[in-house]
Amino acid sequence: EKVIRENWGTRVGFILAAIGSAVGLGNIWRFPGVAYENGGGAFMVPYLVALLTAGIPLLIMEFTIGRKHRGSAPVAFRRLNKNAEVIGWWQVAISIVIAVYYAAIIAWAGWYAFFSIGQQWGSEPEAYLFTDFLQMTPDLYEFGGYQLGLLIAMVVVWAFTLWVIGAGVKKGIETTSKVFIPLLLVMFGVLVVQALTLDGAVDGLNAFFTPDWNALVEEPKVWLNAYGQIFFSLSIGFGIMITYASYLKKKSDITTSALTVGFANSSFEILAGIGVFAALGFMALQSGTPIDEQVSTGVGLAFVAFPTIINTLPYGADLFGVLFFGSLVVAGWTSMVSIVQVPVAAMEDRFGWGRKKATMIFGGGMALVSLALMPAANGLMLLDVSDYFINQYGIVVAALVSIVVVVWVLWKWKELRDNANATSTFKVGPIWFVCLGVITPIMLAIILFLNIRDLLSADAESSLYGYRTYQAFGWSLAGGALAFGVIMALILRRRELPELETE
Ligand code: PHE
Ligand code: NA
Repeated sequence: EKVIRENWGTRVGFILAAIGSAVGLGNIWRFPGVAYENGGGAFMVPYLVALLTAGIPLLIMEFTIGRKHRGSAPVAFRRLNKNAEVIGWWQVAISIVIAVYYAAIIAWAGWYAFFSIGQQWGSEPEAYLFTDFLQMTPDLYEFGGYQLGLLIAMVVVWAFTLWVIGAGVKKGIETTSKVFIPLLLVMFGVLVVQALTLDGAVDGLNAFFTPDWNALVEEPKVWLNAYGQIFFSLSIGFGIMITYASYLKKKSDITTSALTVGFANSSFEILAGIGVFAALGFMALQSGTPIDEQVSTGVGLAFVAFPTIINTLPYGADLFGVLFFGSLVVAGWTSMVSIVQVPVAAMEDRFGWGRKKATMIFGGGMALVSLALMPAANGLMLLDVSDYFINQYGIVVAALVSIVVVVWVLWKWKELRDNANATSTFKVGPIWFVCLGVITPIMLAIILFLNIRDLLSADAESSLYGYRTYQAFGWSLAGGALAFGVIMALILRRRELPELETE
């Protein structure tokens, strides 16, 4: 008998959920710094090229595979070809690794939203973060030293995530996306307006937007960084968008949705660039140092630079802090839901588990691993190394393999093209093929090659990842994800797929 697969309630609901996945921490803490370091205003050119030639074409591929084959990544790939299931499980493994550490960052941001009230981090935000708050050890392998506060916040993050996933695609994910994405826009919008009123904001914007055209010609890395940013930013390459699209109705538009999600995500990145650089301009003026020295990304930007800025704000410091860290929580959490949905849906689809059971057993298992590892004193180190390896190697390789297999090995692009075009107002054709099948894999392959070369030549003094023991950890993680995929696919090789579910 055929099971009825859940569907998104509305087209807007699906698009908001996909935007919720795409718009994440990376938009706020990664994009502004990356753009600045890679040509400033001139970065918009390679960035737009990367969006149009790689981001949106791959998004269209993933949406089409998900909708056509109506399954989470392993099932969808198996329906494409019996031997392709391994790709789906590999993507599941990558999602598990990301979910384990992503929850921690959301928990930190939650605490910092609270600390913003009265600037509880005091006058030395950097010392506060590493010594008081994280009580961090610089040794990756020194386990133990739990932070109760972190543990509690992470329990909240996981409980809320699993509760929403357990509630289902429509009632859980769609409903929360409809609330949180508009909320994020309002919160971040108010923050940007306040940032623009600060002294020095204009200098910040000038620094951000002034184009360095030479960079585009003289530094090929700028182009690669634009492509790298797009894959990460759109959450493509490891099953998220396939999973979300598997709940689409048969007749839903594919290409217009992909364009909408792609441009919405990029718009939010540029908005974040404006907000962050207005604030950095203010900080540069306050401290009398050039903006150059203020620019950072990631943990340093969010948890050191921003508290420093907030400490010196002329008015509304508490509100500014709550809005900034609240935005990180909301943006991060909607991405978190999309990551956790990948493994949970895979168990559901492939083993015929009910949604509640899959969420409780598999989601709960992930939560336990996350809670056991991340609130410890070496949590930040684990996070750093995992994030680096899984992004630079896991996602890039998985994306590359999935494209080459789908387009070249299985030669499915025509079938997917026809499937997408049948219900889309905006049609794809040979240009899509060239972008997806030629340009994107070439760029991914170059990025991968250069990453590996850099890593192998890195010495311990110049970079964290130069340590051989860290590389051992990172490679085991990236390799382990692949091994997990292979093992799952082998175990399930003889096990028939459930029948294609109807609407
Ligand atoms: N797309 C998210 C961002 O820009 C990042 C992300 C990566 C989200 C992996 C989910 C999974 O921040
Ligand atoms: Na993004």
